[in-house]
Amino acid sequence: MTIIDIHTHLLPRVDDSTLKKWKFSAMMGKYKEAGIERIVFSPHIDDPFVDTHRDRIQPVFEWAKEKAAKYGIRCYLGSEFYVRSQKDFSFIPHFNTHVLCETDTNFAPSDYLDTVRSITEKGYKVILAHVERYKFLSPSSSLFEELHDGLGCLVQVNARGARTPEGRAWLKSGVVDFIATDNHGDESLPVALYEILGQYPQVARKMDSFVREHLD
Ligand SMILES: [Fe+2]
Repeated sequence: MTIIDIHTHLLPRVDDSTLKKWKFSAMMGKYKEAGIERIVFSPHIDDPFVDTHRDRIQPVFEWAKEKAAKYGIRCYLGSEFYVRSQKDFSFIPHFNTHVLCETDTNFAPSDYLDTVRSITEKGYKVILAHVERYKFLSPSSSLFEELHDGLGCLVQVNARGARTPEGRAWLKSGVVDFIATDNHGDESLPVALYEILGQYPQVARKMDSFVREHLD
């Protein structure tokens, strides 16, 4: 079973990651120990609360990829795209096929569905990041039905969020495709991801199939 962490902020000095360059290798060691050998770096893009240095993404990714390879960890570059009312999209898709999307946790932007639809019309599949955070979304809401059944969005819950009542409700509903760390520099998160996947083997199986279908 291959475990992938599709949501992380571990590129030093790129976004709001707290991980220092000199602690990067230790973090890769923690992933390796936890049995997680694939990581997607997903720096924030267009997040109004985060100052992302776009010009640093690619060089820091190349640096990180080389360091991670020493631990046998395969890395990918993606992003976490903040959906607002953009007309131009400048995200970095995961695996060239998927876009990890977040938005305001309290209110969906008025044109939220339209924006998600235009991303899907460009040929990408949207992954809804940490769904347990959104006060306007639940597994039984009509908005979710449109996103999931209508637009084919995939669903991600955070490893820590999985232990909240909201996270448990999402996991119980059976619609969750990924659990991920959303790791900004916490060395305890890789093992937390491994443990929570042990509690939700159906999600672990979906993640394993995803890797085999899209990455192997
Ligand atoms: Fe994130």
